[in-house]
Amino acid sequence: MSLYKPEYIHCNGEPFRIFLTDEEIQQRVNKLGQEISRDFSDKRPIFIGVLNGAYIFLSDLMRYVDIPCEVDFLKLSSYGDEKVSSGQVRELKDVDANIQGRHVILVEDIVDTGLSMKFLIDKLKRQEPASITTVTLLQKTEATQYDVKPDYVGFRIPNLFVLGYGLDYAQEGRNLAQIYILDESK
Ligand code: IMP
Repeated sequence: MSLYKPEYIHCNGEPFRIFLTDEEIQQRVNKLGQEISRDFSDKRPIFIGVLNGAYIFLSDLMRYVDIPCEVDFLKLSSYGDEKVSSGQVRELKDVDANIQGRHVILVEDIVDTGLSMKFLIDKLKRQEPASITTVTLLQKTEATQYDVKPDYVGFRIPNLFVLGYGLDYAQEGRNLAQIYILDESK
């Protein structure tokens, strides 16, 4: 069996072309893992992944990190079935760990408007961690309106809908091993 990586796909009736290959993603995630390992070597950080979108990125990222660390998750509602943000954040699950005094590394799949990340930083701050560092695999830099500046960014991408490697379109497509972008030429 090999990873699921078609050249071109239709998801919920819309066409998507390949945008970032498996190799490109792994190379970049490896680099981020090395940087985080170096920057947090004496800190025993706790990674907090934002479900559902970040689950694949976080599981790969952590396996490139070679220092003692922990993991926990929280969950926000997604876009629903749309391709544009609803402008609202709904919290579906909180972190279980006590993060007071801890070095938190918040891991997102994508920063679009920045609303979710802003909401999460404000929320986690109230639990008095020693520090909050933010990592996102993707950032739609042109779309980011809220005052957030992720500390580690995998790829800066155009303001188009993307899919795969954990990211969904109406809950489909998370199982794609690569990242696909809406094919506007079709
Ligand atoms: P923001 O709050 O507008 O920054 O949006 C963040 C969340 O919206 C992400 O964590 C994703 O769940 C979702 N999202 C934003 N852009 C995309 C996309 O292009 N594809 C799939 N999900 C997206």
